Amino acid sequence: MVTSEATPFIKTGGLADVLGSLPPALAARGVETAVVLPRHRAISLEGAERVWDSLPLLVGPYQYYASVWRIDRQGVPYFFIDCPPFFDRDGIYAGPWGDHWDNDTRFAALCHGALGVARHLFRPDIIHCHDWQAGLLPVYLKQFFQGDPTFYGVRTVFTIHNMGYHGSFLKERLYWLGLPEWTFRPDLLEHHGRVNFLKGGIVYSDYVTTVSPTYAGEIQTPEHGFGLDGLMRARAGFLKGILNGVDYSVWSPENDPHIAAAYSAGDLAGKAACKQDLLAEFGLPQDDPDVPVIGIVSRFATQKGFDLIAEVAHDLVHWNIRIAALGTGEKQYEELFRHLASVRPDRFSVRATFSEKLAHKVEAGSDIFLMPSRYEPCGLNQMYSLRYGTVPVVHATGGLEDSIDQATGFKFRPYSAWAMLDALRAALTVYATGKPTWRAMMETGMRRDFSWNAAAAEYATLYRHLAGESFAAFGAS
Ligand code: ADP
Ligand code: GLC
Repeated sequence: MVTSEATPFIKTGGLADVLGSLPPALAARGVETAVVLPRHRAISLEGAERVWDSLPLLVGPYQYYASVWRIDRQGVPYFFIDCPPFFDRDGIYAGPWGDHWDNDTRFAALCHGALGVARHLFRPDIIHCHDWQAGLLPVYLKQFFQGDPTFYGVRTVFTIHNMGYHGSFLKERLYWLGLPEWTFRPDLLEHHGRVNFLKGGIVYSDYVTTVSPTYAGEIQTPEHGFGLDGLMRARAGFLKGILNGVDYSVWSPENDPHIAAAYSAGDLAGKAACKQDLLAEFGLPQDDPDVPVIGIVSRFATQKGFDLIAEVAHDLVHWNIRIAALGTGEKQYEELFRHLASVRPDRFSVRATFSEKLAHKVEAGSDIFLMPSRYEPCGLNQMYSLRYGTVPVVHATGGLEDSIDQATGFKFRPYSAWAMLDALRAALTVYATGKPTWRAMMETGMRRDFSWNAAAAEYATLYRHLAGESFAAFGAS
């Protein structure tokens, strides 16, 4: 697998969670799996073994050299491409002045590094690329290594974790990426006059997956296709949505080192202590344990639906609720929550930081988890919430549609502020007046199984099919 991030090494979002837990789940099923990622500055190499020196990376006209480090974790070798000119910097995608100017060549280098690992250190049958950062790998493989015996029979899978991030660069950059001019065609890498890495991954891979069945359908529509819906329809026979899973060794209130008290579906007593702890942590009043706490953990981005909250903020400030929001990203949404907190410091609190510990505390200490995402390829926090007995209120889209139902949460559609308020009202009504129903929802959610088993089995079947070990047709969405 090729990725730009993976827990516990480096994380900005759900992609990292997936790459930290799907590979071990595959390994546990007997699918030998390795992961290749950049050695970003923030990754500590303590305990790592240096397994290759001077791996040549030919990126466009320049030759770079990388060393490769290896850390074994839960039966999976993680290989780190250590190439300081590209990766020894703060911010894995962006610095204080915006996206790194050379993100195209940086991630082209990752792709070359991964091909080097496949040549020298781990011979795969399948190379599974994740998101635009790994999108050029299938392109390089098909363009340059078609006749290379090392790669005979190697098949590629490309997983779209988010259609909204294309990795789109100026046409002039083709040369610096070592790509011939003729790949700049609308049926290959060109998209609206630019080189598009995501499109490269989709076009050149043998099979494409995305992270929920509903999202696999949605990306074939103009509304959610980000201009690539036609391409997705064309590739529909080679596309499948596989719902992500949850790593319950990290996300379970029974044994979570970050939360104030342990609890489980059978014994919920500890959740009250977690709620008090969360209120204290966010500086919210702890006087009335019956006031519902609504938790948010999110990247602050347009995708996540905060425009809906902005639209009805004037209404929300009058509700007898408390909102604890944890997130980083676009300043406008941080400002929104700061503004709410300044108007009603007893009801709203925001922590604009990236904190694993606080994320766990919000999951455990809230009564309701709000996720009004405009679109959501899969979404992990709603599934974490279920495990913590925190009832999700979600927009019925993508993985939110697939993982939440009437027995476990509240869904709204269409995507409108009023629909969201209706769902929140419904949740608060059951919370306040229907304690047994509420408790049943919590317990049902806690007992749902979203472990990686099911997804790992599906990926394993797909790999076997592509490697020619199984002639059974692999269903597409
Ligand atoms: P996305 O990848 O689109 O951001 P997901 O729901 O798939 O959304 O995954 C988000 C992951 O990032 C979750 O593990 C969530 O807990 C984590 N996360 C998001 N924001 C923060 C934050 N400010 N602090 C800690 N963890 C965060
Ligand atoms: C992306 C998506 C999110 C998904 C995650 C992991 O970041 O936005 O919905 O859960 O990838 O697949």
